[in-house]
Amino acid sequence: MNLIVNGKALSLEVEPDMPLLWALRDILDIKGPKFGCGAGLCGACTVIIGGEAVRSCQVAAADVTSEVRTIDGLANGDVLHPVQQAWIDEQVAQCGYCQAGQIMNAVALLEANPSPSDADIDEAMAGNLCRCGTYPRIRAAIHRAAT
Ligand code: FES
Repeated sequence: MNLIVNGKALSLEVEPDMPLLWALRDILDIKGPKFGCGAGLCGACTVIIGGEAVRSCQVAAADVTSEVRTIDGLANGDVLHPVQQAWIDEQVAQCGYCQAGQIMNAVALLEANPSPSDADIDEAMAGNLCRCGTYPRIRAAIHRAAT
């Protein structure tokens, strides 16, 4: 099958039911999306497909027909994406494991809604779990990155 990931056309062989997360990490060596639960419950594996934040453990790679964006392709060379920079400026990460998924969900939110309210942020980010409890800093970083 063929996939476009972070602007690159890639071809790969996958089992029909292989989750996209496995294809990204184990076949394409794109390690930004993380395995947390494998059951659609945590959001650590979040990528953007066709503008939507999607849990890559819950979609079969073979079913993907739009470009996949992962945190690996977010920066423009040495220049971080504004959401990544806001994450650093607000010192969001603690252990960091969930943050790639948090950032991709935040990017999808801001692309759809450039000036989200606290309620918008809480609603959009509610399913992305952080066991370190960085939620207040995540919200601050999203506000910082908002236009
Ligand atoms: Fe996909 Fe948890 S690993 S939602």
